[in-house]
Amino acid sequence: MAQAARFWDNVALRYSKKPVSDEASYQKKLKITQEYFRPDMEVLELGCGTGSTAMVHAPFVKHIHAVDISARMLEIAKGKVETAGIDNITFACAAIDDFTAPDESLDAVLALSLLHLVTDKEASMARIHRMLKPGGLFVSSTVCLGESMMRYIGLINPLGRMLGLMPMVKVFKAKEMEDSVTAAGFEIERLWLPPDGITAFIVARKAEV
Ligand SMILES: C[S@@+](CC[C@H](N)C(=O)[O-])C[C@H]1O[C@@H](n2cnc3c(N)ncnc32)[C@H](O)[C@@H]1O
Repeated sequence: MAQAARFWDNVALRYSKKPVSDEASYQKKLKITQEYFRPDMEVLELGCGTGSTAMVHAPFVKHIHAVDISARMLEIAKGKVETAGIDNITFACAAIDDFTAPDESLDAVLALSLLHLVTDKEASMARIHRMLKPGGLFVSSTVCLGESMMRYIGLINPLGRMLGLMPMVKVFKAKEMEDSVTAAGFEIERLWLPPDGITAFIVARKAEV
């Protein structure tokens, strides 16, 4: 975990200045997500990075708790939120594996560009499922390299990590991601594969009791 925090701390400033690679797809994901939001919602965003997405969503929900493993990412995010005068986003520094909220306490959990970066995405999704209220939403956008030429990243990843040039990246297919979401107990409501060919955007719901 310390290695991941170090990697993301090191790239945080560069990441904050990098334009979104596919603006149209980003906007579509924001719009789909906002279709599900209600003003009374308690939202958790895991792996929030420099807070840009939380800032866009904040006016549509009651509160967003934005969590990231990188203190440097959070420092940048806090600065942006303060400058914008947004008062319904709070922050915490934690790895997805360590963060907990009380069972059935959240209306929505977002994990955007995150689940390919965690050691055990199934365990993470099980925890997310537990934290969500019945009927709660899980929104994920995950890089799925398993069917692209970039699947070979899996081979060079150990060396890239050793040299501090890459974070840990898990390689799997979009169908495997879909199956993991279902296996965690969610029902998939939207599955969109953006034109980049390496992302699966999923909106899923925990069953009502
Ligand atoms: C590719 S960036 C995505 C940031 C943001 N969600 C977005 O879509 O722009 C991945 C983010 O996840 C964070 N991260 C990586 N591994 C993590 C972990 N195990 N737990 C929590 N956050 C993590 C990184 O610090 C980084 O901010």
